[in-house]
Amino acid sequence: MGLKLKNVLPMFVFLLLASTAKAQSAALDVTSEKYGGKPDSDITQALEKAWTDACASTAPSKIVVPKGTFKFVGTTFKGPCKAAIEFQLQGTLQAPVDGSQLPKDDTWIGFDNVDGLTLSGGGTFDGQGAQSWKNNDCNKNRQCKSKHINLRFHLLTNSKILDVTSKDSKNFHVNLLKCEKVEFNGFTVSAPKESMNTDGIHIGRSTGINITATTIGTGDDCISIGDGTKDLTVTNVTCGPGHGIAIGSLGRYPEEEPVSGINIKKCTLTDTTNGVRIKTWPASPKDSTASDIHFEDITMVNVGNPILIDQEYCPWNECKKGVPSKVKISNVSFKNIKGTCTDPVAVKLACSPGLPCENVELSDIDLKYTGDKGPITSVCSNVKPTITRVAQPLACATSAAAPASA
Ligand SMILES: *[C@@H]1O[C@H](CO)[C@@H](O)[C@H](O)[C@H]1NC(C)=O
Ligand SMILES: *[C@@H]1O[C@H](CO)[C@@H](O)[C@H](O)[C@H]1NC(C)=O
Ligand SMILES: *[C@@H]1O[C@H](CO)[C@@H](O)[C@H](O)[C@H]1NC(C)=O
Repeated sequence: MGLKLKNVLPMFVFLLLASTAKAQSAALDVTSEKYGGKPDSDITQALEKAWTDACASTAPSKIVVPKGTFKFVGTTFKGPCKAAIEFQLQGTLQAPVDGSQLPKDDTWIGFDNVDGLTLSGGGTFDGQGAQSWKNNDCNKNRQCKSKHINLRFHLLTNSKILDVTSKDSKNFHVNLLKCEKVEFNGFTVSAPKESMNTDGIHIGRSTGINITATTIGTGDDCISIGDGTKDLTVTNVTCGPGHGIAIGSLGRYPEEEPVSGINIKKCTLTDTTNGVRIKTWPASPKDSTASDIHFEDITMVNVGNPILIDQEYCPWNECKKGVPSKVKISNVSFKNIKGTCTDPVAVKLACSPGLPCENVELSDIDLKYTGDKGPITSVCSNVKPTITRVAQPLACATSAAAPASA
């Protein structure tokens, strides 16, 4: 028995209407009459209002900040929201130059407790941090006043940060805490070499984060990986200038959680002070672990210390040196790492005398020293790595305990 056309047609029309209704969930343009945002003026209230509407919408919605420059004093966009939200930044949002004008002490723009956020549009979050870097004494003063992070993601899940740029943040550019399943793809960080404390992406206590096709030039770590990070994949990331890709620092505070499942692949570092490193503090208050960490297919161009495990990380002499780190490092590999370095110590594995590193592998390491402070070399302590296809000077040439570098 065949279906009659008059029965099928209404069904077809209904489906057609339903699908167009979904596709058309109208964009919430902050410059529309409803929100009233204007170029070159402060759109904080317009954007907050658009967020409130988007967050209440039961259908997926899209916020649009069109091309142009807009001032934004800062806010935290809070969830939970009823459906996915795309935040399309086509123009530039500018933070106040004077940090005291921002409503929060440590954040310019926050996203808190949001599921299914997409940040897109090709625009720029401009933290206008040049003034703050000059006043930053956090390299010597531990009680220094905290500065504003451009983008703070807290409890963000199933989300994507796409082709947007974070520029000249006053502090870290991006900080993820307690996030799950977040992808960065086509993201850019841009700040000068002299900008202090401006880590590109910092990840802590987060699981299932992917960072790919991302370019990070800044004054501090390109990507820094804090305690409690699990299942992180970094591929096709370009770093420089800055301090390279770092796990840590770990082992400074009592409540730290283990780090595991870190894969850093196919990255290029240019003119960075370090390449790939794991750093832990001596005299850790508690036992912890960092394991299953793999660096593969990394190109170094004029990098200070390309390969580094430093378990005597103690900047500004703020720790009890000589008391071993209690962070156990195991199952770490450095494979196919090539290029040039500007410090003769190209490989340094300074593991904890209290908890030697275990299962460390070095293979296919090919680095050339471009300076004139003697021959290229490597220094290893409290570790017996498995070494495959590594030239003698890079294969733990010296096994004496070496002084730590900052
Ligand atoms: C991250 O990448 C892995 C494979 O490399 C994939 O299985 C996973 O779904 C990705 N996660 C996100 C959040 O994109
Ligand atoms: C790597 O990232 C760059 C952008 O930084 C992109 O243009 C390129 O297509 C990516 N390559 C692959 C293989 O994904
Ligand atoms: C290290 O790897 C070995 C073998 O691959 C595995 O049995 C062990 O559980 C791993 N240890 C950690 C702490 O990941």
